[in-house]
Amino acid sequence: MRQPFVAGNWKMNGSRESAGRLLEDLVRNLSPGNREVAVCPPFVYLADAMRVLKGSEIALGAQNVSEEESGAFTGEVSATMLQDFDCAYVIVGHSERRALYGETDEVVARKFMAAVRTGLRPILCVGETLEQREEGITDKIIGEQLDAILGVAGVHAFKEAVVAYEPVWAIGTGQTASPDQAQAVHAMIRSRVAAADDTIAAGLRIVYGGSVKATNASELFAMEDIDGGLIGGASLDAESFLSICQSAE
Ligand code: G3P
Repeated sequence: MRQPFVAGNWKMNGSRESAGRLLEDLVRNLSPGNREVAVCPPFVYLADAMRVLKGSEIALGAQNVSEEESGAFTGEVSATMLQDFDCAYVIVGHSERRALYGETDEVVARKFMAAVRTGLRPILCVGETLEQREEGITDKIIGEQLDAILGVAGVHAFKEAVVAYEPVWAIGTGQTASPDQAQAVHAMIRSRVAAADDTIAAGLRIVYGGSVKATNASELFAMEDIDGGLIGGASLDAESFLSICQSAE
């Protein structure tokens, strides 16, 4: 009932030339299937990406968005501007933004709202650090991250959203969460949303991110509450990303 979702988060990688090549490879070689695929290139490549992806099965997303609509906010990009470039999705609350750019739960909630208001679908990232997992407070941390958004946006805003569980210790480390570890957190996230609205929780796509590769995607995506993935490093290689997409059906 939930259509699987696989998105590539390219982060700050590549060049205009390599981005163009990667997009063309993806468009040419993505086989049809019952899953939705999206890519999130850096802002400056969105215009090229829009042209290459037009008419394809691949949706476009951005990696960040301003919480403001317009005005004197040097360096920021609004949700409306992203829509001008055919973005359907935007990542909010990625752990790199939280840790390196000081984005608090409150800021993430405002960005989430800016996206929803404009009709962009937020991909909301949540996840615990290694210390938090070892302390046994994973559920508490993720519960707080979710509640911060649920409290401001309300559960209805989750109809259009995707939640990405990205344990910080698994991002870019090659150390993937085991399918059982990830499933346990995904089930907890779904039940937390279900406490506010059962139907919305049942339809909510919760994807896993953190060292997903062509070799481990199938076993992760086979878990009941894992509805696809948010892919970093492996999304920069067409063959790996396409193989991961094929695992999500
Ligand atoms: O947003 C995706 C991400 O943080 C996971 O990165 O390189 O571990 O797949 P990676």
